[in-house]
Amino acid sequence: MTTIESVLNETRVFQPSSDFSQRANIPDIKTYQVLCKEAEQDYLGFWAKQARNHIIWHQPFTSILDNHEPPFYKWFSDGVLNVSYNCLDRHLSTQADKVAIIFESDSGEVTKTTYEELHRQVCQFANALKNQNITKGDRVIIYMPMRTEAVVAMQACARIGAIHSVVFGGFSAKSLHERIVDAGAVAIITADEQVRGSKHNPLKDTVDQALNMGDTDSVKHVIVYRRTGAAVSFNSDRDVWWHEIVQQQSVDCEPEWVSSEHPLFTLYTSGSTGKPKGVQHSSGGYLLGAKLSMQWIFDYHSSDIFWCTADVGWITGHSYVAYGPLAMGATQVIFEGIPTYPTPGRFWEIIQKHRVTTFYTAPTAIRSLIKLGADLPARYDLSSLRLLGSVGEPINPEAWMWFYEKVGQSRCPIVDTWWQTETGSHMIAPIPGAFPLKPGSCTMPLPGIVAAIVDEAGHDVEQGKGGFLVIKKPFPSQLRTLWGDPDRFRNTYFPKDIGNGQYYLAGDSAYRDKDGYFWIMGRIDDVLNVSGHRLGTMEIESALVAHPSVAEAAVVGKPHAIKGEAVVAFVVLKGAYPTGDTVTEMINLLRDWVAKEIGPIAKPEEIRFGENLPKTRSGKIMRRLLRTLARGEEITQDISTLENPAVLEQLKKNAG
Ligand code: WTA
Repeated sequence: MTTIESVLNETRVFQPSSDFSQRANIPDIKTYQVLCKEAEQDYLGFWAKQARNHIIWHQPFTSILDNHEPPFYKWFSDGVLNVSYNCLDRHLSTQADKVAIIFESDSGEVTKTTYEELHRQVCQFANALKNQNITKGDRVIIYMPMRTEAVVAMQACARIGAIHSVVFGGFSAKSLHERIVDAGAVAIITADEQVRGSKHNPLKDTVDQALNMGDTDSVKHVIVYRRTGAAVSFNSDRDVWWHEIVQQQSVDCEPEWVSSEHPLFTLYTSGSTGKPKGVQHSSGGYLLGAKLSMQWIFDYHSSDIFWCTADVGWITGHSYVAYGPLAMGATQVIFEGIPTYPTPGRFWEIIQKHRVTTFYTAPTAIRSLIKLGADLPARYDLSSLRLLGSVGEPINPEAWMWFYEKVGQSRCPIVDTWWQTETGSHMIAPIPGAFPLKPGSCTMPLPGIVAAIVDEAGHDVEQGKGGFLVIKKPFPSQLRTLWGDPDRFRNTYFPKDIGNGQYYLAGDSAYRDKDGYFWIMGRIDDVLNVSGHRLGTMEIESALVAHPSVAEAAVVGKPHAIKGEAVVAFVVLKGAYPTGDTVTEMINLLRDWVAKEIGPIAKPEEIRFGENLPKTRSGKIMRRLLRTLARGEEITQDISTLENPAVLEQLKKNAG
């Protein structure tokens, strides 16, 4: 196998402050190593102990891991629990009056909900669902704005054992339809409209369109939350108002006690080809992952004000909005709007106003905030912050440095968390009180997570060489299957040729440095092959972003007669979009810069500028689409879920 070459040389190291370490849940590397050792010596005992300590079981488990039929693993399978009970009821005797959710609407109104109130709302809504004959095992689509009610809907499903499938409010009718049909949903929970950045998005209309596309007879109920009061069409056989069905409902609802393996939810994630995959998660194992990572990686303390900016339509909004923080009994911020409305300082304003201590967001958000106003954070009081986090894409070292210095004021560790929809919770991430940080590295695996880098035959690669990122042993929070498609599950994630079907294949490339730190290099599908050198996308992009004029960059390969593939870079500048002579000047400057930073091999053959890059609704750069543009091919991909379609024309035209 030709391994993947690393060309980036990042040498900066940042130690956690002694203040931070002293009060951290894991205060030093030794404590981390002890946990790792425990897991190594008695893997099942380690996980069983965590599951007993962190989850309230209605009936304790005796079976830890059932691996009769790999990779269809079952964890704690004879244990019985309820996830909503573990997120709400368990706090009522100790902190009923603590604020669970500080909700800030798009236009700035703030609503605080205590644990007791949240419990009441969830119980009432759960009773209302039962009243609509929705029961354990039924699939319920949630297509809601980012509001407290979205969490209420998810928790209420969990309470009655219904399997929710949240669809991000930005998805089109076609995408929504596909998910409704695949899940065989009996109900949809939605709102009249969603409001983001003052723009109204007619969710109920989109649901109606999706339900008119056929094969949707399974759907018996549409529950509509009134957000704006906009007129919506109403089918009285099927549609009900949220506020009407909760009236008169009891504020108590006995949880449905389910097996640990009962599916808590499915969440659709688009694969590189074919229809979206319904990633299916369990109850007990999933909850354990969410909770442990809150404790270890977010170093949760009861005085924290936690803010994860992800929408509940993504896995991050499941694990670190709807479940993890509530399982810990945390106070968290939920924000309905966008970072730039009404001003580019909105995020900083929210941190200042609510005294946020832990701020978790995505590199794309960070890079666009830099573009909008690199010096803006200095105008706000961000002194409440103690920990920052990043997720969703590799964070380029320069973006990391800005986040560290300008937002965290060189005081807050950054947890760069590597994980996936499929893994349910953090897999490789810094323990913030214990690990020295290196900008751009997600550092080391959590205790009990056996991550490794292997070649095409499944053998460990040498230190410093890039290869496939795998997880060698089953872990509690991993996906259980793909909804209705066990073969695709097995073939995609446990391929026969890598580790004999025993390893979980993440689909990312990575390498480990001399200190054992992991560096994610990008998706395997995006690896470039230039003159026989296999290069990940992350490092060339990071070199470009390190140039003072560059805000964002994406690189792809295009066929080249001599080199095999040539590097094509798509670049967003911090200042104005270049025109005339400045284009050529800038291109030459950046090509030389990359050659100098990482070597001539990575020098882009071609550079195109845009005001933005094409991104998915979750903020990931769509490199596949850029590849099509670079090759001058017709776009055949579905681009209905693209956040900013106009930018494609610009990037096409600008072929220089
Ligand atoms: C990428 C999001 C580098 C990676 C939780 C992964 C990252 C995919 C990081 C999963 C990170 C996520 N560093 N890359 N810290 N976090 N990724 O399913 O390619 O939306 O496989 O889950 O995002 O994306 P997903």
